[in-house]
Amino acid sequence: MKVLITGGAGFIGCHLSRRFIEKGHEVTVVDMLHPYYSIERKKRQLFFIEEAGNFSFYQLNLLDEEKTMQLFKELKPEAVVHLAAIPGVAPSLKQPLEYVDYDIKATINALKAAGETGTKHVLFASSSSVYGNQHGGPVKEEMATGQVVSPYAAAKYSAESFCQAYQHLYGFQLTILRFFTVYGPWGRPDMAMAKFIKKALKDQEIPLYGTHTTRDYTYIEDIINGIEASMYHEHETEIFNLGSSYPVAIEQLVSILTDHFPKLKSIQKGKRAGDVNHTWADISKANKLLGYKPQVTIEEGIRRTIEWFKAYEAY
Ligand SMILES: NC(=O)c1ccc[n+]([C@@H]2O[C@H](COP(=O)([O-])OP(=O)(O)OC[C@H]3O[C@@H](n4cnc5c(N)ncnc54)[C@H](O)[C@@H]3O)[C@@H](O)[C@H]2O)c1
Repeated sequence: MKVLITGGAGFIGCHLSRRFIEKGHEVTVVDMLHPYYSIERKKRQLFFIEEAGNFSFYQLNLLDEEKTMQLFKELKPEAVVHLAAIPGVAPSLKQPLEYVDYDIKATINALKAAGETGTKHVLFASSSSVYGNQHGGPVKEEMATGQVVSPYAAAKYSAESFCQAYQHLYGFQLTILRFFTVYGPWGRPDMAMAKFIKKALKDQEIPLYGTHTTRDYTYIEDIINGIEASMYHEHETEIFNLGSSYPVAIEQLVSILTDHFPKLKSIQKGKRAGDVNHTWADISKANKLLGYKPQVTIEEGIRRTIEWFKAYEAY
């Protein structure tokens, strides 16, 4: 299948591109190499894809409507996995308009180009943040009501609405995937897991934002399995949570890291604005329709991530 992966030079994108190349798909990556984190690192992620086989790469900002349409006309992809966005909650508080541009406007350009050029299936990378602050048990897909707590989440929620609108206008198959705190090799350097491991390796104390907060950490390989399964599944429009359904308290995370770094020290910095207290995915829908079943425990995922850091990241 001809698959276009936007944001393919990013963390999730580089793993997904490799998987699709390995499965024999014709893969094209579109990425502007946004400086949200090091461009050098994104180039290394492109090399990581290259190790798996041939693919095409276009450096393009999807905010450029004309060039985006031109590229889609040229490629005529059968499926588009739209991962391109600027992620991260904290920076969205400082630069909310950037998120309107990169997470909403660029998405509209991709949706319009996909619709106009006959793309059969659009898969959109959304986020657990669209659930806002919910208390109690795991969240089901229908529980996102728009009561979000950060500009990043508002942008993702809005982009989901545009996906629905363009599905209605063009009739392509639409899959909205809500990822829950993804980590693993090549994990985004701005995320807690990567920051903590990097600091631990340098014998530096790790900053904690709040107490008893929980995150449904999901290992990258499980996320890729979920994206792949959803690409092959036939439906008109579906939303799926892709998480572990195993929330880990910050104290538990520190304890697992301490098994690897016995001298680990942490410092409490207090809760950050825009952060939700808990995330916990109900994954029964993805399990039932896609056969999605996370395989990698948090202990094993952290062990593999530390191994990767030691082998690939200078520290
Ligand atoms: N990593 C997670 O835990 C997580 C959780 C929930 C949702 N998501 C979503 O999954 C997607 C991928 O996340 P990631 O962690 O791989 O992030 P990432 O920053 O590593 O990858 C995103 C890529 O998109 C590219 N990009 C951004 N704007 C672009 C534009 N206008 N044109 C072309 N390229 C552009 C960036 O250069 C980057 O390489 C994002 O949409 C993110 O919001 C990620």
